[in-house]
Amino acid sequence: MRLAIIGGGNMGGAILRALVKVEAVSPEDILLIEPDEEKRVILSAATGCSSQAEIDETLRNYDLLLIAVKPQAATPAMELLAQWLLPHQLIISVMAGISLETMKNALGHAKLVRVMPNIPTLIAEGMSIFFASEAVDKQEREWVKTLFSACGTCLEAKDEDAIDAATAISGSGPGYLFYFAEQMTASAKSLGFSETDAQILVQKTIRGATLLWESQQVSPETLRQQVSSPGGTTLAALNHFQEKNVGESIKDGIQLAYQRAKELST
Ligand SMILES: NC(=O)c1ccc[n+]([C@@H]2O[C@H](COP(=O)([O-])OP(=O)(O)OC[C@H]3O[C@@H](n4cnc5c(N)ncnc54)[C@H](OP(=O)(O)O)[C@@H]3O)[C@@H](O)[C@H]2O)c1
Repeated sequence: MRLAIIGGGNMGGAILRALVKVEAVSPEDILLIEPDEEKRVILSAATGCSSQAEIDETLRNYDLLLIAVKPQAATPAMELLAQWLLPHQLIISVMAGISLETMKNALGHAKLVRVMPNIPTLIAEGMSIFFASEAVDKQEREWVKTLFSACGTCLEAKDEDAIDAATAISGSGPGYLFYFAEQMTASAKSLGFSETDAQILVQKTIRGATLLWESQQVSPETLRQQVSSPGGTTLAALNHFQEKNVGESIKDGIQLAYQRAKELST
């Protein structure tokens, strides 16, 4: 499969690097389109893919066209793209808030996929979820799974609404965890640890807890109960979180993120 990536910024660049790193697509089969010369040169040198500054007829040589420009740049990019599209080409968008309907109208094209990746894609540990339009066949869905599994883990959504829902969970999720990590790091520092030691304590705690959860295949509730003995330290903190309704606040916040994702979906 031959892949063109339109937009070599944070996300387009992360996907490109991950695909080449795990050899999911050969660099000779990848074209990067990126107007910023510095980003273009750095990425093509790091990955060995070919690159150019603008969308043009070269795109006709590629089967999969991945759009990774900012949502604000979507309309001009899609206008340019629409001129060169061939019916067999599969368009994959990672743009937050740009619906399949908007893409269909802008591109006059039916084979469309929406993907919501997240930022750990940068280290091939991303979580992506995709939804494909009806015109996308089984083989093409497999291509999408192959691409985004190379960037971490990939799920197929049951409907397009699940993309907005996943935006509030896995898309924005790293931000929630960084917030929690920030509070834990500040607490560690106020308890006397240096910045470096505080970060190590928190990072390794989050990493270890996640790996343990993955290895045990039980609910987080079970693990929480296992580590909170009656009268102990963990329970002292957890009881306080419960009294302050921290759990409800987290769920309310995620609901707000979901509503915002729906508002932005045009
Ligand atoms: N970053 C994330 O964590 C994340 C997560 C999920 C989804 N996404 C989605 O990924 C998309 C890209 O986000 P980002 O953070 O990677 O943005 P970004 O760093 O600004 O990257 C976008 C790149 O696209 C380039 N570009 C603009 N117009 C173009 C065109 N017509 N043809 C080719 N390239 C063009 C931009 O070049 P210039 O700088 O020269 O304009 C820029 O380098 C967004 O739609 C966002 O919703 C991002």
